[in-house]
Amino acid sequence: MLREVMAAAQVAAGDRVVDGTFGRGGYARGILAQQPDCRYLGLDRDPVAVHYGQNLSEQLAGLEVHHAAFSDMETLIRQLELDSVDVVVLDLGVSSPQIDQADRGFSFGKDGPLDMRMDTSRGLSAADVVNAMAEEDLANVIFKYGEERRSRAVARAIIEARAQAPIETTGRLAEIVRSVVWRAKDGIDPATRTFQGLRIHVNDELGELERGLEAAEAILAPGGRLIVVTFHSLEDRIVKAFLKARASKPASKGRLMPWEEDAEEDKAQTFMLLNKKPLEAQKDECRANPRARSAKLRAATRTDVAAGGAASDPEPEHTGANL
Ligand SMILES: C[S@@+](CC[C@H](N)C(=O)[O-])C[C@H]1O[C@@H](n2cnc3c(N)ncnc32)[C@H](O)[C@@H]1O
Repeated sequence: MLREVMAAAQVAAGDRVVDGTFGRGGYARGILAQQPDCRYLGLDRDPVAVHYGQNLSEQLAGLEVHHAAFSDMETLIRQLELDSVDVVVLDLGVSSPQIDQADRGFSFGKDGPLDMRMDTSRGLSAADVVNAMAEEDLANVIFKYGEERRSRAVARAIIEARAQAPIETTGRLAEIVRSVVWRAKDGIDPATRTFQGLRIHVNDELGELERGLEAAEAILAPGGRLIVVTFHSLEDRIVKAFLKARASKPASKGRLMPWEEDAEEDKAQTFMLLNKKPLEAQKDECRANPRARSAKLRAATRTDVAAGGAASDPEPEHTGANL
């Protein structure tokens, strides 16, 4: 979605850009090639991505890369003694290198240690979770974040398997799931949804997203752009609800006379939507990168209303792993 991200970001000379999901710097390269005269702050919670980015920053003027979760972007910006930034971009989920490297433990296609942490320097791994979590909680994680209808059967199979020996590898977990979930007609591996659910839980991805959106609201200057690319409906629902709450006017308390001012009217409007419907990747990108087929981009412009005045988020709060 680089084209669409660049069009929405409208980076101008002197702008400060926060890329909360630096990855391998695809967006950084594209944006800095178009506008070399900006300060590009890349954040990633994955130490490998940060190491890669810090090397890249030696060749790419304007780029600096920090090890941080994007939910901590406000703290980082204050530490850097910046008042505000002009663009915040989030490209959610895991990167191709994370999936491709078996030792990161994200992939059911390649056997490796059952880790799944983006930030390998802290927190519980997927192995810690599947070997310790109570059966009902496991079923809930797999159902809620993986949308696996056979979540109870999967949780039961995990409990039985771990009683034999701790589950340490992605291959063993995938086999356990495949023993109770059959391959659907669409050919998707039966382990897909369970792996997604555990990954979202291990990295507290939905909680991170909720806190990250609020942090972006706090640091964006008036006129600043927020751009979020999501890859599944759980993420998109959160972004949509956040922007709906921030970009819509609160319900009117009654008709006002023309000379009366409704102080509440503009209070919640910390953002204006750039696109009412989410943008999707174009056909050529989907052909080159099948993952782009499920990408959705939502973008909004920050108004000059102070953060904190917004109506509350109608979605329930997510409390995943406390990383
Ligand atoms: C889909 S990739 C981003 C790819 C990037 N746009 C590029 O062009 O290379 C997502 C990256 O964001 C990182 N990430 C995911 N959630 C994060 C979070 N809450 N805080 C910081 N980094 C995060 C992952 O570690 C991964 O490297």
